[in-house]
Amino acid sequence: MKILRKIALFASVPMFLLSCSNGNQSVNLLRDVYADYFSVGAALNPQNRNSTLLKHFSSLTCENAMKWSSVHPADNTYTFEEADEYIKIAKANNIKVRGHALVWHEAIPETVFKEGGEYLTKDEILTKESEHIEEVMKHFGDDVYCWDVLNEVIDDNQSELAEDLSNVYRKSDWYETCGEDFIFNAFETAARVRDELGLKVKLYYNDYSNDTPAKLPKTLAMLKRIKEKNIPIDGIGMQSHYHLGSFDIDQLEKAIKAYAELGLDIQITEFDVNIYDETLPESSNAAYYYYDYASVPENSLRAQTTIYNRAFELFRKYKDNISNVTFWGVSDANTYMNSDKKHVGRTNYPYIFDVFDEPKESFYAITEFDKGGAQ
Ligand code: GLA
Repeated sequence: MKILRKIALFASVPMFLLSCSNGNQSVNLLRDVYADYFSVGAALNPQNRNSTLLKHFSSLTCENAMKWSSVHPADNTYTFEEADEYIKIAKANNIKVRGHALVWHEAIPETVFKEGGEYLTKDEILTKESEHIEEVMKHFGDDVYCWDVLNEVIDDNQSELAEDLSNVYRKSDWYETCGEDFIFNAFETAARVRDELGLKVKLYYNDYSNDTPAKLPKTLAMLKRIKEKNIPIDGIGMQSHYHLGSFDIDQLEKAIKAYAELGLDIQITEFDVNIYDETLPESSNAAYYYYDYASVPENSLRAQTTIYNRAFELFRKYKDNISNVTFWGVSDANTYMNSDKKHVGRTNYPYIFDVFDEPKESFYAITEFDKGGAQ
Protein backbone atom coordinates (compact mmCIF):
# COMPACT_ATOMS: atom_id res chain seq x y z
CA MET A 1 0.00 0.00 0.00
CA LYS A 2 2.70 2.40 1.05
CA ILE A 3 4.89 1.63 -1.95
CA LEU A 4 1.95 1.94 -4.35
CA ARG A 5 1.14 5.34 -2.93
CA LYS A 6 4.69 6.46 -3.37
CA ILE A 7 4.80 5.30 -7.00
CA ALA A 8 1.50 7.05 -7.72
CA LEU A 9 2.82 10.15 -6.06
CA PHE A 10 6.04 10.10 -8.06
CA ALA A 11 4.08 9.94 -11.28
CA SER A 12 1.73 12.79 -10.52
CA VAL A 13 3.44 15.67 -8.69
CA PRO A 14 5.69 18.41 -10.02
CA MET A 15 9.45 17.73 -9.85
CA PHE A 16 10.15 20.59 -7.41
CA LEU A 17 8.23 18.73 -4.71
CA LEU A 18 10.26 15.55 -5.09
CA SER A 19 13.24 16.63 -3.08
CA CYS A 20 13.30 14.30 -0.09
CA SER A 21 13.90 10.62 -0.04
CA ASN A 22 12.89 8.21 2.67
CA GLY A 23 14.63 4.93 2.08
CA ASN A 24 14.81 4.70 -1.69
CA GLN A 25 11.51 6.47 -2.33
CA SER A 26 10.90 10.16 -2.84
CA VAL A 27 8.11 11.91 -1.02
CA ASN A 28 6.79 15.44 -0.84
CA LEU A 29 8.35 17.71 1.72
CA LEU A 30 5.79 18.95 4.23
CA ARG A 31 7.25 22.44 4.11
CA ASP A 32 6.76 22.59 0.33
CA VAL A 33 3.27 21.12 0.37
CA TYR A 34 2.20 23.69 2.97
CA ALA A 35 4.23 26.65 1.67
CA ASP A 36 1.04 28.50 0.64
CA TYR A 37 -0.77 27.68 3.89
CA PHE A 38 1.39 27.98 7.03
CA SER A 39 4.82 27.00 8.29
CA VAL A 40 5.09 23.41 9.53
CA GLY A 41 7.13 22.71 12.62
CA ALA A 42 8.46 20.01 14.93
CA ALA A 43 9.65 19.94 18.54
CA LEU A 44 13.31 19.00 18.84
CA ASN A 45 15.14 17.36 21.73
CA PRO A 46 18.61 15.82 22.12
CA GLN A 47 17.43 12.49 20.63
CA ASN A 48 15.79 13.76 17.46
CA ARG A 49 17.56 17.03 16.77
CA ASN A 50 19.76 15.66 14.01
CA SER A 51 17.05 13.64 12.32
CA THR A 52 17.25 13.43 8.54
CA LEU A 53 13.53 14.29 8.57
CA LEU A 54 14.32 17.90 9.54
CA LYS A 55 14.19 18.78 5.85
CA HIS A 56 10.40 18.49 6.08
CA PHE A 57 10.03 21.39 8.50
CA SER A 58 10.17 25.16 8.17
CA SER A 59 9.82 25.86 11.91
CA LEU A 60 11.23 24.25 15.02
CA THR A 61 10.48 24.49 18.72
CA CYS A 62 12.85 23.38 21.47
CA GLU A 63 10.96 20.74 23.43
CA ASN A 64 12.70 21.80 26.65
CA ALA A 65 15.86 23.80 25.93
CA MET A 66 14.31 27.29 26.23
CA LYS A 67 12.21 26.62 29.33
CA TRP A 68 13.04 28.60 32.48
CA SER A 69 14.94 25.84 34.31
CA SER A 70 17.00 25.09 31.18
CA VAL A 71 18.14 28.65 30.46
CA HIS A 72 17.97 30.11 33.98
CA PRO A 73 18.50 27.24 36.45
CA ALA A 74 19.32 29.49 39.43
CA ASP A 75 19.10 33.18 40.33
CA ASN A 76 21.63 35.15 38.24
CA THR A 77 22.72 32.03 36.30
CA TYR A 78 21.86 31.83 32.62
CA THR A 79 22.81 28.80 30.50
CA PHE A 80 21.96 29.24 26.84
CA GLU A 81 24.40 26.70 25.33
CA GLU A 82 21.88 23.97 24.51
CA ALA A 83 19.30 26.35 23.08
CA ASP A 84 22.01 28.06 21.03
CA GLU A 85 22.82 24.69 19.45
CA TYR A 86 19.21 24.48 18.21
CA ILE A 87 19.43 27.98 16.78
CA LYS A 88 22.51 26.85 14.84
CA ILE A 89 20.74 23.73 13.58
CA ALA A 90 17.79 25.87 12.52
CA LYS A 91 19.95 28.35 10.63
CA ALA A 92 21.89 25.58 8.90
CA ASN A 93 18.61 24.04 7.70
CA ASN A 94 16.81 27.27 6.80
CA ILE A 95 14.28 26.69 9.59
CA LYS A 96 12.80 29.41 11.79
CA VAL A 97 12.42 28.98 15.55
CA ARG A 98 9.39 29.36 17.86
CA GLY A 99 10.40 30.47 21.35
CA HIS A 100 8.87 28.21 24.01
CA ALA A 101 8.22 29.29 26.76
CA LEU A 102 9.05 32.35 28.88
CA VAL A 103 6.73 31.79 31.85
CA TRP A 104 5.23 28.44 32.94
CA HIS A 105 4.41 26.90 36.33
CA GLU A 106 6.51 23.81 35.48
CA ALA A 107 10.23 23.53 34.69
CA ILE A 108 10.98 26.45 36.97
CA PRO A 109 13.22 26.52 40.06
CA GLU A 110 11.40 26.85 43.38
CA THR A 111 13.72 29.74 44.28
CA VAL A 112 11.76 31.98 41.92
CA PHE A 113 8.98 31.94 44.52
CA LYS A 114 10.63 31.04 47.84
CA GLU A 115 13.66 31.75 49.97
CA GLY A 116 14.41 29.61 53.03
CA GLY A 117 11.01 27.91 52.66
CA GLU A 118 9.14 31.27 52.82
CA TYR A 119 7.28 32.83 49.91
CA LEU A 120 8.76 36.06 48.54
CA THR A 121 6.54 39.11 48.14
CA LYS A 122 4.49 39.73 45.01
CA ASP A 123 6.78 42.62 44.00
CA GLU A 124 9.88 40.48 44.37
CA ILE A 125 8.38 37.71 42.26
CA LEU A 126 7.17 40.09 39.54
CA THR A 127 10.65 41.64 39.42
CA LYS A 128 12.14 38.19 38.87
CA GLU A 129 9.60 37.50 36.15
CA SER A 130 10.47 40.74 34.34
CA GLU A 131 14.21 40.12 34.65
CA HIS A 132 13.89 36.63 33.25
CA ILE A 133 11.80 37.73 30.28
CA GLU A 134 14.16 40.59 29.53
CA GLU A 135 17.36 38.49 29.69
CA VAL A 136 15.99 35.65 27.61
CA MET A 137 14.44 37.89 24.94
CA LYS A 138 17.65 39.90 24.73
CA HIS A 139 19.70 36.76 24.28
CA PHE A 140 17.64 35.30 21.44
CA GLY A 141 16.55 38.58 19.82
CA ASP A 142 15.06 37.92 16.41
CA ASP A 143 16.59 34.41 16.24
CA VAL A 144 13.12 33.39 17.36
CA TYR A 145 10.08 34.62 15.40
CA CYS A 146 7.66 34.37 18.30
CA TRP A 147 7.48 33.63 22.00
CA ASP A 148 5.03 31.66 24.05
CA VAL A 149 5.11 34.41 26.66
CA LEU A 150 2.87 32.39 28.96
CA ASN A 151 2.11 28.68 28.99
CA GLU A 152 -0.90 26.97 30.61
CA VAL A 153 -2.28 29.52 33.08
CA ILE A 154 -5.95 28.60 32.60
CA ASP A 155 -7.77 26.41 35.14
CA ASP A 156 -8.46 22.98 33.64
CA ASN A 157 -11.30 21.78 35.84
CA GLN A 158 -14.47 20.90 33.97
CA SER A 159 -16.34 23.76 35.69
CA GLU A 160 -18.31 26.40 33.76
CA LEU A 161 -16.90 29.92 33.68
CA ALA A 162 -17.94 31.68 36.90
CA GLU A 163 -19.57 35.10 36.43
CA ASP A 164 -17.09 36.75 38.79
CA LEU A 165 -14.24 35.09 36.82
CA SER A 166 -13.04 33.43 40.04
CA ASN A 167 -12.30 30.10 38.30
CA VAL A 168 -10.46 31.35 35.22
CA TYR A 169 -6.91 30.73 36.41
CA ARG A 170 -4.83 27.72 37.43
CA LYS A 171 -3.93 27.93 41.13
CA SER A 172 -0.19 27.85 40.49
CA ASP A 173 2.56 29.48 42.57
CA TRP A 174 2.41 32.34 40.09
CA TYR A 175 -1.28 32.92 40.62
CA GLU A 176 -1.27 32.31 44.38
CA THR A 177 1.47 34.90 44.90
CA CYS A 178 0.66 37.50 42.22
CA GLY A 179 -2.95 37.01 41.12
CA GLU A 180 -3.60 38.07 37.51
CA ASP A 181 -0.76 40.56 37.62
CA PHE A 182 1.85 37.97 36.61
CA ILE A 183 -0.11 37.59 33.37
CA PHE A 184 -0.29 41.29 32.62
CA ASN A 185 3.31 41.81 33.71
CA ALA A 186 4.56 39.03 31.41
CA PHE A 187 2.97 40.48 28.26
CA GLU A 188 3.76 44.09 29.23
CA THR A 189 7.40 43.22 29.81
CA ALA A 190 7.71 41.19 26.61
CA ALA A 191 6.15 44.03 24.59
CA ARG A 192 8.40 46.63 26.22
CA VAL A 193 11.55 44.58 25.54
CA ARG A 194 10.44 44.05 21.94
CA ASP A 195 9.99 47.81 21.48
CA GLU A 196 13.21 48.76 23.23
CA LEU A 197 15.26 46.33 21.14
CA GLY A 198 13.31 46.94 17.93
CA LEU A 199 12.52 43.21 17.59
CA LYS A 200 9.96 41.70 15.24
CA VAL A 201 9.12 38.77 17.52
CA LYS A 202 5.38 38.01 18.02
CA LEU A 203 3.85 37.32 21.42
CA TYR A 204 1.55 34.32 22.09
CA TYR A 205 -0.44 32.76 24.88
CA ASN A 206 -0.09 28.94 24.71
CA ASP A 207 -2.23 26.20 26.33
CA TYR A 208 -3.64 22.69 25.93
CA SER A 209 -7.31 21.72 25.45
CA ASN A 210 -8.20 25.34 24.74
CA ASP A 211 -10.79 24.16 22.22
CA THR A 212 -12.86 22.34 24.88
CA PRO A 213 -16.17 23.57 26.36
CA ALA A 214 -14.48 23.90 29.79
CA LYS A 215 -11.39 25.83 28.74
CA LEU A 216 -12.47 27.91 25.74
CA PRO A 217 -14.71 30.35 27.70
CA LYS A 218 -12.10 30.76 30.43
CA THR A 219 -9.38 31.40 27.87
CA LEU A 220 -11.52 33.98 26.06
CA ALA A 221 -12.22 35.68 29.40
CA MET A 222 -8.50 36.01 30.09
CA LEU A 223 -7.71 37.22 26.58
CA LYS A 224 -10.42 39.88 26.88
CA ARG A 225 -8.92 41.03 30.21
CA ILE A 226 -5.54 41.46 28.48
CA LYS A 227 -7.10 43.31 25.57
CA GLU A 228 -9.22 45.58 27.82
CA LYS A 229 -5.99 46.78 29.37
CA ASN A 230 -4.49 47.47 25.95
CA ILE A 231 -1.65 45.08 26.65
CA PRO A 232 -0.14 43.80 23.40
CA ILE A 233 -0.74 40.16 22.47
CA ASP A 234 -0.42 38.84 18.92
CA GLY A 235 -1.71 35.32 19.05
CA ILE A 236 -2.86 32.15 20.70
CA GLY A 237 -1.04 28.83 20.74
CA MET A 238 -3.35 25.82 20.62
CA GLN A 239 -1.20 22.90 21.77
CA SER A 240 -3.66 20.35 20.35
CA HIS A 241 -2.54 17.13 22.03
CA TYR A 242 -5.28 14.68 21.02
CA HIS A 243 -5.89 11.00 21.65
CA LEU A 244 -8.17 8.66 19.71
CA GLY A 245 -11.14 9.54 21.92
CA SER A 246 -10.68 13.29 22.31
CA PHE A 247 -10.88 14.89 18.89
CA ASP A 248 -14.00 17.00 18.23
CA ILE A 249 -13.79 18.82 14.90
CA ASP A 250 -16.76 21.11 15.67
CA GLN A 251 -15.24 22.27 18.93
CA LEU A 252 -11.93 22.86 17.23
CA GLU A 253 -13.55 24.96 14.51
CA LYS A 254 -15.57 26.91 17.06
CA ALA A 255 -12.40 27.73 19.00
CA ILE A 256 -10.47 28.77 15.88
CA LYS A 257 -13.32 31.13 14.93
CA ALA A 258 -13.57 32.58 18.44
CA TYR A 259 -9.84 33.32 18.66
CA ALA A 260 -9.78 34.74 15.14
CA GLU A 261 -12.70 37.04 16.05
CA LEU A 262 -10.57 38.51 18.82
CA GLY A 263 -8.08 39.49 16.12
CA LEU A 264 -5.50 36.94 17.22
CA ASP A 265 -3.21 34.92 15.00
CA ILE A 266 -3.47 31.18 15.72
CA GLN A 267 -0.64 28.67 15.88
CA ILE A 268 -1.15 24.96 16.43
CA THR A 269 1.87 24.51 18.65
CA GLU A 270 2.12 20.89 19.89
CA PHE A 271 -0.02 18.73 17.61
CA ASP A 272 0.05 14.97 18.11
CA VAL A 273 -2.41 12.08 18.24
CA ASN A 274 -1.82 9.57 21.04
CA ILE A 275 -2.54 6.08 19.63
CA TYR A 276 -4.74 5.12 22.61
CA ASP A 277 -8.30 6.14 23.36
CA GLU A 278 -7.74 7.44 26.88
CA THR A 279 -11.46 7.33 27.66
CA LEU A 280 -11.30 3.51 27.56
CA PRO A 281 -10.20 1.71 30.75
CA GLU A 282 -7.84 -0.62 28.82
CA SER A 283 -5.68 2.35 27.83
CA SER A 284 -4.53 2.38 31.47
CA ASN A 285 -4.37 -1.39 31.90
CA ALA A 286 -0.88 -2.79 31.41
CA ALA A 287 -2.34 -6.03 30.02
CA TYR A 288 -3.55 -4.06 26.98
CA TYR A 289 -0.52 -1.81 26.43
CA TYR A 290 1.35 -1.92 23.14
CA TYR A 291 5.01 -2.59 23.73
CA ASP A 292 6.07 -2.27 20.10
CA TYR A 293 4.84 -0.77 16.85
CA ALA A 294 3.91 -4.13 15.34
CA SER A 295 1.23 -4.70 17.98
CA VAL A 296 -0.67 -1.46 17.28
CA PRO A 297 -3.99 -2.53 15.67
CA GLU A 298 -4.62 -1.41 12.09
CA ASN A 299 -7.90 0.23 13.10
CA SER A 300 -6.13 2.42 15.68
CA LEU A 301 -3.70 3.63 13.03
CA ARG A 302 -6.66 4.23 10.71
CA ALA A 303 -8.47 6.24 13.39
CA GLN A 304 -5.30 8.25 13.94
CA THR A 305 -5.01 8.96 10.21
CA THR A 306 -8.61 10.17 10.13
CA ILE A 307 -7.91 12.65 12.93
CA TYR A 308 -4.81 13.94 11.14
CA ASN A 309 -6.72 14.21 7.89
CA ARG A 310 -9.71 16.06 9.33
CA ALA A 311 -7.62 18.38 11.49
CA PHE A 312 -5.36 19.42 8.61
CA GLU A 313 -8.37 19.91 6.35
CA LEU A 314 -9.65 22.38 8.92
CA PHE A 315 -6.26 24.06 9.35
CA ARG A 316 -6.08 24.57 5.59
CA LYS A 317 -9.59 26.06 5.59
CA TYR A 318 -8.44 28.61 8.18
CA LYS A 319 -5.06 29.29 6.60
CA ASP A 320 -5.67 33.05 6.79
CA ASN A 321 -5.93 32.78 10.58
CA ILE A 322 -3.36 30.03 11.23
CA SER A 323 0.30 30.85 10.64
CA ASN A 324 1.99 27.69 11.93
CA VAL A 325 1.25 24.04 12.69
CA THR A 326 3.88 22.27 14.82
CA PHE A 327 4.08 18.56 15.73
CA TRP A 328 5.29 17.83 19.26
CA GLY A 329 8.03 15.53 17.96
CA VAL A 330 9.43 14.29 14.66
CA SER A 331 8.85 10.54 14.35
CA ASP A 332 7.51 7.66 16.46
CA ALA A 333 11.13 6.65 17.12
CA ASN A 334 11.18 9.22 19.91
CA THR A 335 8.29 10.62 21.90
CA TYR A 336 7.87 12.23 25.30
CA MET A 337 4.73 10.05 25.65
CA ASN A 338 6.92 7.00 26.32
CA SER A 339 8.02 8.62 29.61
CA ASP A 340 4.42 9.06 30.75
CA LYS A 341 4.56 8.32 34.50
CA LYS A 342 0.90 7.26 34.57
CA HIS A 343 1.53 4.48 32.03
CA VAL A 344 4.99 3.09 32.72
CA GLY A 345 6.23 0.76 29.97
CA ARG A 346 3.50 1.72 27.49
CA THR A 347 4.81 2.81 24.09
CA ASN A 348 3.10 5.37 21.89
CA TYR A 349 3.12 6.28 18.18
CA PRO A 350 1.65 9.77 17.88
CA TYR A 351 3.30 11.24 14.76
CA ILE A 352 3.14 11.02 10.95
CA PHE A 353 6.51 9.27 10.60
CA ASP A 354 6.89 5.77 12.06
CA VAL A 355 9.57 4.24 14.31
CA PHE A 356 11.77 3.71 11.23
CA ASP A 357 11.29 7.37 10.22
CA GLU A 358 9.16 6.23 7.28
CA PRO A 359 5.98 8.16 6.37
CA LYS A 360 2.77 6.68 7.81
CA GLU A 361 -0.63 6.76 6.13
CA SER A 362 -1.29 9.95 8.11
CA PHE A 363 1.62 11.59 6.29
CA TYR A 364 0.07 10.76 2.93
CA ALA A 365 -3.35 11.86 4.17
CA ILE A 366 -2.12 15.36 4.95
CA THR A 367 0.12 15.75 1.91
CA GLU A 368 -2.10 14.33 -0.83
CA PHE A 369 -5.14 16.47 -0.13
CA ASP A 370 -5.13 18.04 -3.56
CA LYS A 371 -5.86 14.56 -4.89
CA GLY A 372 -8.56 13.80 -2.36
CA GLY A 373 -6.28 12.57 0.49
CA ALA A 374 -6.84 9.45 2.58
CA GLN A 375 -9.96 9.15 4.71
C1 GLA B 1 3.17 20.93 27.68
C2 GLA B 1 4.32 21.89 27.42
C3 GLA B 1 5.37 21.27 26.55
C4 GLA B 1 5.71 19.83 26.96
C5 GLA B 1 4.45 19.01 27.09
C6 GLA B 1 4.76 17.59 27.53
O1 GLA B 1 2.40 20.77 26.55
O2 GLA B 1 3.90 23.10 26.82
O3 GLA B 1 6.52 22.08 26.61
O4 GLA B 1 6.41 19.82 28.17
O5 GLA B 1 3.61 19.64 28.03
O6 GLA B 1 3.65 16.94 27.98
